[in-house]
Amino acid sequence: MDDKFKGRLAIIGLGYIGLPTAVVLATRGVDVVGVDVNPETVAAVTRGEVPFVEPDLAVAVSGAVAMGRLTATSETPEADAYIIAVPTPFNGDHTADLSYVKTAARQIAPRLRPGNIVVLESTSPPGTTESIGRWIGEMRPDLKMPHDGETGADIFIAHCPERVLPGRIMIEMLTNDRVVGGLTPRCAERAASIYRVFAQGEILLTDAASAEMAKLVENAYRDVNIAFANELSLVSESLHIDVWEVIRLANRHPRVNILNPGPGVGGHCIPVDPWFIVSAAPALSPLMRTAREVNDRRPHHVAEQVVAKAARFRSPTVACLGLTFKANVDDIRESPAIEVVGLIAKALPEVEILVSDPFVSTLPPLLSGYSNLRLESAHHAVENADIVVLLVEHEPFKSLRHTRLGGKVTYDTRGAWR
Ligand SMILES: NC(=O)c1ccc[n+]([C@@H]2O[C@H](COP(=O)([O-])OP(=O)(O)OC[C@H]3O[C@@H](n4cnc5c(N)ncnc54)[C@H](O)[C@@H]3O)[C@@H](O)[C@H]2O)c1
Repeated sequence: MDDKFKGRLAIIGLGYIGLPTAVVLATRGVDVVGVDVNPETVAAVTRGEVPFVEPDLAVAVSGAVAMGRLTATSETPEADAYIIAVPTPFNGDHTADLSYVKTAARQIAPRLRPGNIVVLESTSPPGTTESIGRWIGEMRPDLKMPHDGETGADIFIAHCPERVLPGRIMIEMLTNDRVVGGLTPRCAERAASIYRVFAQGEILLTDAASAEMAKLVENAYRDVNIAFANELSLVSESLHIDVWEVIRLANRHPRVNILNPGPGVGGHCIPVDPWFIVSAAPALSPLMRTAREVNDRRPHHVAEQVVAKAARFRSPTVACLGLTFKANVDDIRESPAIEVVGLIAKALPEVEILVSDPFVSTLPPLLSGYSNLRLESAHHAVENADIVVLLVEHEPFKSLRHTRLGGKVTYDTRGAWR
């Protein structure tokens, strides 16, 4: 069995996944070069700073940079191993946009030497890791790729999906079990040597396609379960039953664990990854497609409820609390809260809408076109509103119910003020 990886490692993409991975390796003695196409990211990391909010990451980055273990650059260097952690969004037709992964593979290809390891961490549809082997092979016919045969491959290629939770990345990066799927068993072994440097969880070796599919399935499972809760919320609302109470009671059954309804599903993963399965086998995945549709419909439902509440006032002011996709992080990607606010602003152009989020300092571009929207402190927004909508249960918002909400119409989409 291979031991722990030693040598120089390049991480392509210094975002929410790449930078924490770079840091946990660097602080354990690996010589890490972070590569990013965004010059501001490279400059920030070079200064020892983090260009986004993630608990405990800033201290770790400044320490790793100060120790000289972590550097950042825009040029892909020569290294012993490469980790690809670039975005994998979806196209208009919900198929995966693999252009970032392909570009990263092409950046790496000219630098490769026999014995190098290439790990794809980006969430990807089954077959992507194999495509990386093909893309590299096309540029480097001098190197023997894993698909050329098990014996004697020059380059070891594997997929190691990431399943950390934003807000807890620095803990979960160490403690989560890791799935490492190789194009061959030897590829999986070689790639696992990297994760042995820091992983405290178990490292599970498999083939690349199973690893790719396992990651997608994890998020599809979450999405279907959230859709169930959201559908329950709709049904309960129509029957004038408190969905939170129903879920609380049902969850006392020893084998029932219903998730919480909310204003929709956001972030980089859960609203995206199930589509990679649905687009790979459309005729065979009606449940996952429907779950996506149920969850995508949620922001519209929430906005419609707010519009109905506003109709009770002659000239109401609405406060919307929260813009990020989940509590206590600054990540606004695919945020249903932003969609809700945009839908309300569009439906009620004459109504003043005060938006507040302790993690967001400027209105996101998607909302900048509405003249009836203003970013405010929570205190000011709530003080001046007739209707208060809780969209994200950030810690500072939770306590508002004790002090400031008296006499106002409230709409708690997260069940945080119950
Ligand atoms: N954020 C999460 O919580 C999370 C969790 C699990 C899996 N993932 C997956 O991990 C992957 C990365 O996600 P993320 O959240 O870190 O994305 P991100 O957008 O935060 O970071 C990606 C980084 O890659 C850089 N980049 C893009 N193309 C590049 C290239 N050719 N060379 C160098 N840098 C390049 C971007 O500038 C950006 O800084 C995605 O596939 C995502 O689905 C993310």
